[in-house]
Amino acid sequence: MALYSDKVMDHFQNPRNVGKLDDADGIGEVGNAKCGDIMRMYIKVKDGVITDCKFNTFGCGSAIATSSMATELIKGKPIEEALQLSNKAVVEALDGLPAHKIHCSVLAEEAVRAAVKDYYDKNGIAYNPDDFQIHDCEHCHD
Ligand code: FES
Repeated sequence: MALYSDKVMDHFQNPRNVGKLDDADGIGEVGNAKCGDIMRMYIKVKDGVITDCKFNTFGCGSAIATSSMATELIKGKPIEEALQLSNKAVVEALDGLPAHKIHCSVLAEEAVRAAVKDYYDKNGIAYNPDDFQIHDCEHCHD
């Protein structure tokens, strides 16, 4: 079996929703200290729904593919649903990732959550801080 699925290769070579939203309602930036990769996620929210979403990722191919897939999965979804997006769901949607690349998908999940948190903070919307715990990569295989 090839190391990367066709979907991973597709989203790496033709990433969806790349760029910046100048009028974003929420911006999340996360990084992984170990590999040095950085992901920035922009969301536009209207009536509780993510109407647009873009990302910039300075990182490995899997980080680009997972952020691309994450934007596809949350676009058009209610914000609460986006908040539930797990790295596992992103990996499944990409037909899998090698074990040592799973941490890249964690970055995508965190970027989405960071953007939602920023949106909540900017709009004075109350939330449960437990929903925004930052994943501790020290305990993650990479
Ligand atoms: Fe760090 Fe992929 S190697 S996010």
